[in-house]
Amino acid sequence: MATIIDGKATAAALREKLTVEVAQIVESTGIRPGLAVVLVGEDPASQVYVRNKAKSTKEVGMLSREHRLPADTSEEDLLKMVEQLNNDPDIHGILVQLPVPAHIDAEKVLDAIDPDKDVDGFHVINSGRLAVGQRGLVPCTPLGCLMMLKSTLGDLSGLNAVVVGRSNIVGKPMAQLLLQESCTVTIAHSRTKDLPAVCRAADIVVAAVGRPEMVKGDWIAPGATVIDVGINRIEGENGKTRLVGDVAFDEAAEHASAITPVPGGVGPMTIACLLHNTVTAMKAIHKIN
Ligand code: GUN
Repeated sequence: MATIIDGKATAAALREKLTVEVAQIVESTGIRPGLAVVLVGEDPASQVYVRNKAKSTKEVGMLSREHRLPADTSEEDLLKMVEQLNNDPDIHGILVQLPVPAHIDAEKVLDAIDPDKDVDGFHVINSGRLAVGQRGLVPCTPLGCLMMLKSTLGDLSGLNAVVVGRSNIVGKPMAQLLLQESCTVTIAHSRTKDLPAVCRAADIVVAAVGRPEMVKGDWIAPGATVIDVGINRIEGENGKTRLVGDVAFDEAAEHASAITPVPGGVGPMTIACLLHNTVTAMKAIHKIN
């Protein structure tokens, strides 16, 4: 049976480290790293995420600002708010919670964020920096996945990594990060021919497709490491809903040497990486080592 990669514990350790670092930064510079989260509208899932982000931000000793705007906020007003935050010296990280209402062009809003405060790493400048190997802000979910892979496997160099999914938020940046670690990287997706065979050739499988339990146990090579980014709510036998990943966990755990659970795997690492990115942004803005 596979080792379970404990995302909750890894995230707690990272938050602990950040708490110490934030205290040192405040003591030596008098400046507290600050994160602003902007939520437009009342999407219930987004409200939960934003609340959790604010809570974790305060827990590590950083400044947290929440800006909740009504669902009918115009694109122009949202862009003005982003501009204000770009110019606010107390704020080092800006996150506009997605999805935004349909009348707002999300790409335009994300690209209005100062790239040096773009703690989501979604700005086209940060995607470009990642692609060419320059320092920049890296999307939180793939960064969390990489941290878990490195803490499980150590050096990743030379390993075959298959990323299933090609989104801008997870799949593409994940592939770039693995390439930087000298993995041989394959990006698979819905049109990939013989996906099971592609996965079977992998030492590392990162599943980020958003399809419940799509990756089956016999797609996993003996001893491979599996990172499951999916969070899907499905109906169980008893009529109650439950959360499952993109990987059929029980089957896959019989083949893998290590695997992340859902929940308790990638999820907790994403918020911890957001805090990490805010500290990174603050240090870059104030030129601290
Ligand atoms: N909505 C769901 N996940 C995310 C995320 O990582 N960042 C932002 N901005 N919105 C999200």
